[in-house]
Amino acid sequence: MTDLRSARWFGGDDEVALLHRVAVAASEYAPGRPVIGIAVTGSDLNPCHGDADRLADAVAEGVRRRGATPMLFPATSLGEDLMKPSAMMYRNLLAIEVEEMVRAYPLDGLVVLAGCDKSVPAALMGMASANVPSLVCLVGARRSGDFDGRRLAAGTDVWRELDRRRSGEASDAEWAQFETCLGRVGPGICNVMGTAVSMGLIAEMLGMALPGSASAVAGGDDILASAVATGERVVDLVEEQLRPRDRMTPAAFANAARVLAAVGGSTNAVIHLLAVAGRLAVPFDLDRLDAEVRDVPLLTDVEPCGRGLIEDFHASGASPALVAALGDLVDRDVLCADGRSWGTVADAAGVRGPAIAGREHPFGPAPTLAVIRGTLAPDGAVIKVAAASAALSHHRGPAVVFSDYEDMRRRLDSPDLEIGPDAVLVVRGCGPVGAPGMPEWGMAPIPRALAERGVRDMLRITDGRMSGTSFGTVVLHITPESAVGGPLALVEDGDLIEFDLATRRLDLLVPPEEVERRAAAWAPAESAHVRGWPAMYRKHVLPASQGCDLDFLTAPTGGSTQFVEPVVGRS
Ligand code: FES
Repeated sequence: MTDLRSARWFGGDDEVALLHRVAVAASEYAPGRPVIGIAVTGSDLNPCHGDADRLADAVAEGVRRRGATPMLFPATSLGEDLMKPSAMMYRNLLAIEVEEMVRAYPLDGLVVLAGCDKSVPAALMGMASANVPSLVCLVGARRSGDFDGRRLAAGTDVWRELDRRRSGEASDAEWAQFETCLGRVGPGICNVMGTAVSMGLIAEMLGMALPGSASAVAGGDDILASAVATGERVVDLVEEQLRPRDRMTPAAFANAARVLAAVGGSTNAVIHLLAVAGRLAVPFDLDRLDAEVRDVPLLTDVEPCGRGLIEDFHASGASPALVAALGDLVDRDVLCADGRSWGTVADAAGVRGPAIAGREHPFGPAPTLAVIRGTLAPDGAVIKVAAASAALSHHRGPAVVFSDYEDMRRRLDSPDLEIGPDAVLVVRGCGPVGAPGMPEWGMAPIPRALAERGVRDMLRITDGRMSGTSFGTVVLHITPESAVGGPLALVEDGDLIEFDLATRRLDLLVPPEEVERRAAAWAPAESAHVRGWPAMYRKHVLPASQGCDLDFLTAPTGGSTQFVEPVVGRS
């Protein structure tokens, strides 16, 4: 019989245990059975999680089938569309909530309903710290809508239509029709290889979500069956006492990085991987990531790096088929969430469909993702090579500097902006401290005057992020960020900037003595955020190169998660 954490609340003959038993008298609780918390993240404010309540009931059903007690509770819903300045600023808040709900309540195991971008890393971070047997239940990818006779790619088609709109190609009627079509699409996460599916696949590779669930269609039979199986499996994990730290190993992180590269996944996932690793003191940093992904080609044909949608990836065999295609590029001995090795899962995958390629005929060359350094990014930056223009892989041009997002929005289309197609757009003030919260402001649109001349891509560099559904030659997450005095803060209009993918460098071609002069004259801007979560976030957030976690939430190198159980007595 497993020692249950919940027994500390419910076992015994004193008034404390009596009151605890009374508190659950109206529930399904039965003495001696594991209690499984199910964090429900559905919300009217988050359409991506529109199916979360139904899936939570399915998880509960799976828990009951294994003889345990499901306990549903609400948790913060991180909706990418409406949260401002960015759901990224609230990722750490949900991670804290997950950890603290486990600490405070008599839970033996945990399932978090997650899917929309930041909810998956938040769940993984909280689970890593609390370290009770846990699984993520993914909410499914939304069905593709229809626009102008073709399937709609969430997010990616928005950027594409925006380009058409800005260049004058899309009429008012087409733009309105596009909005109507987008609005008809039902619940679920973005149906391209954006951050949400990228993080779902990472959760799978870390052994924290059932294989194949990241790409299942919302509302379909596969995702419902997966939710029930998640409920069943988490009870098994409690009985086997298999905890997140047992499964999120260095080898699992290496596999996750390689899968991310093989799908041309979101650059945001790099930050999240670093943050989860930081919770576990797993030695995984930007250099490690770059080494892991260097030889991995693009093996999936899914937007924004390819042509298909997530439903095509799922129909082609999903993660099991992808792992089979990766062959010895992944460690097949790593365990997945259902207890099998990834080698076993891959061998059972069967014939893969057209959206997943073998290594001998990839959809694109390695690397699909690269870590960049140089005088402008001494602590690192990231570029999604698979979504960038090969013609810009070596580029030198004059800087056009925007001091922050609002400056960029105000001046980008101004007739007074002097800019040519070889310019390097610098968008700063978008980092974790500067914005704050590091919104997806980094992919500046092509200035209208150039878009109308047919320019579709330019080199853009930023300390911000871009949506996982985006594309273009954008060097992101430049660290240190400008708000703390990183070199990006010192760039002036007209400075020459050089980017070279082959050597992975981004350099400011300004004499060192001039850079020193500018640095001596630089001072941080005053922030209006002097209270509340934004103030706490700014004070404690780590740089993007370390995952943007809060400094007091990471685990010391080689240390435990430092999770301290509460005293269970009178409240
Ligand atoms: Fe929620 Fe894309 S906006 S997953």
